Amino acid sequence: MSVHRKICPDPVAAARACAQEILALLDAALDQQNTATLAISGGRSPAPMFEELARQRFDWDRVHLFWVDERAVPPADPQSNYRLAHELLLAPAQVPPQNVHRVEAELPPGEAARRYEAEIRSFFRLAPGSLPQFDVIHRGLGADAHTASLFPGEPLIDDREGIAAAVWVEKLFAWRITLLPGVLLNARHTVVLATGADKAVALRNVFLAPYEPKQFPGQLGLREGIAMKWFVDQAAARWLE
Ligand code: 6PG
Repeated sequence: MSVHRKICPDPVAAARACAQEILALLDAALDQQNTATLAISGGRSPAPMFEELARQRFDWDRVHLFWVDERAVPPADPQSNYRLAHELLLAPAQVPPQNVHRVEAELPPGEAARRYEAEIRSFFRLAPGSLPQFDVIHRGLGADAHTASLFPGEPLIDDREGIAAAVWVEKLFAWRITLLPGVLLNARHTVVLATGADKAVALRNVFLAPYEPKQFPGQLGLREGIAMKWFVDQAAARWLE
């Protein structure tokens, strides 16, 4: 598999291109199977991507939505990744509620992670020890090169067996629930949206520094031969060109 990079003029153009890619990948999956699975990340960058997804005439009835990660807050909290997606995508696109598999992040973090993992095991009908294969995973990139809620130095970056976990993020002084690397690397297709000048150093390290995912978690997937497409804007790609 190969890694592609698309450099767009600005964050909205990159977000829209990423949205179009997600829809194309889901369409292709639905040509082959009854339902498709998409796991989305949160943060600020995906907002125009969600809006673009909702704007397109797309049959969400056959798509099941999961989260790559979630803040340990209730769904109505302004920090909630679910809340952002609900506002900009789930509600406007009328994604059927039974297709939405949110993290119950209002629960204690460990319990939320266990319940989320159980939901994934049940949906994918996983045999013990096996990992889900999402048709499409959307990841972001933090200014510190974190992806999902796998922050630099997180021991679970070495994990390849687990599905989901609660992680304490010291720099944020907050709990997160996140999919683990084995699941991220098992995706049929990965799209990464990274925009804004504040991501330029992280992108340079991801693509130009030695491969060390513990230091630059965004590198996960770059050397494992997975199908990965990066959507960045010129400001974020400043040190790549
Ligand atoms: C989250 C995300 C996280 C995000 C990066 C980038 O919960 O924050 O899932 O991994 O992709 O932090 O966030 P921004 O888009 O806000 O820069």
